[in-house]
Amino acid sequence: MDSRPIGVFDSGLGGLTVVRRLLEELPNENIVYFGDTGRVPYGTRSPDTIKRYTAEDCRFLRRHDVKMIIAACGTASSVGAQVLKAQSVPAIGVVDATAKAAALATRSGRIGVIGTAATVQTDAFGIAIRALNPDAQVFSQACPLFVSLVENGWIAEDDEVTIATAKRYLSPLMDAQIDTLIMGCTHFPLLAPILQTILGNAVTLIDSGSAAAGAAKELLASRDMLAERENGSCRFFVSDTPQGFANVAKMFLGREVAADVELIDPALLSE
Ligand code: DGL
Repeated sequence: MDSRPIGVFDSGLGGLTVVRRLLEELPNENIVYFGDTGRVPYGTRSPDTIKRYTAEDCRFLRRHDVKMIIAACGTASSVGAQVLKAQSVPAIGVVDATAKAAALATRSGRIGVIGTAATVQTDAFGIAIRALNPDAQVFSQACPLFVSLVENGWIAEDDEVTIATAKRYLSPLMDAQIDTLIMGCTHFPLLAPILQTILGNAVTLIDSGSAAAGAAKELLASRDMLAERENGSCRFFVSDTPQGFANVAKMFLGREVAADVELIDPALLSE
């Protein structure tokens, strides 16, 4: 048993899709979340910058004596995979568990991946899927505008701007006749109802946040590192605009979190 917190980070609030799953699956766990809201988005940046941010985010979480780290960010998971491997505590991203879920779900072997530009450029999901199923065909599409739409809370099912943007991004994947779509960015599950309506029910959506939370549970259980307490707590740290984070976090988690959101000194990231 290990009552130290689980550390979770993302470039902003997309990683809350992982927190939501963790709260459902592991209610005893304490969670320390870091949202790098001062530097979001990561997905439009160079690989070197994303790796540096990944290392700094992990260092910040380790200051809180976390027992494991979850990179709840498709971009940090894809581009910063080596940085995660080098951590002194177990650190996982969203790629492997999500690829596994997609490989299990597909019937035709035609899998779509949507993510940030940086994620799509690495082909990390495609590589992981083909390692599991060499015959799979993976079709990737960068959807950078989705990140801003989610960060601004434009996620209502009837939001005309978001629907029009999604139709444009998904059109090549529909032409490719995918039967499974990986939402390879942790912001995107918030758009799932819109994506599902456009794609139709024959396409299975795979939520990278959900897959990563499941993988974290397995990892902690296999090492006898689950917490024993009855009610875990959540602390949220951000590098800018705590109130904006709290407002959207409330939509994600279905409860008020403003009192638990703390603004960090950005110097803590580079020290
Ligand atoms: N949450 C990030 C991801 O999963 C996307 C947002 C960003 O570009 O920083 O890739």
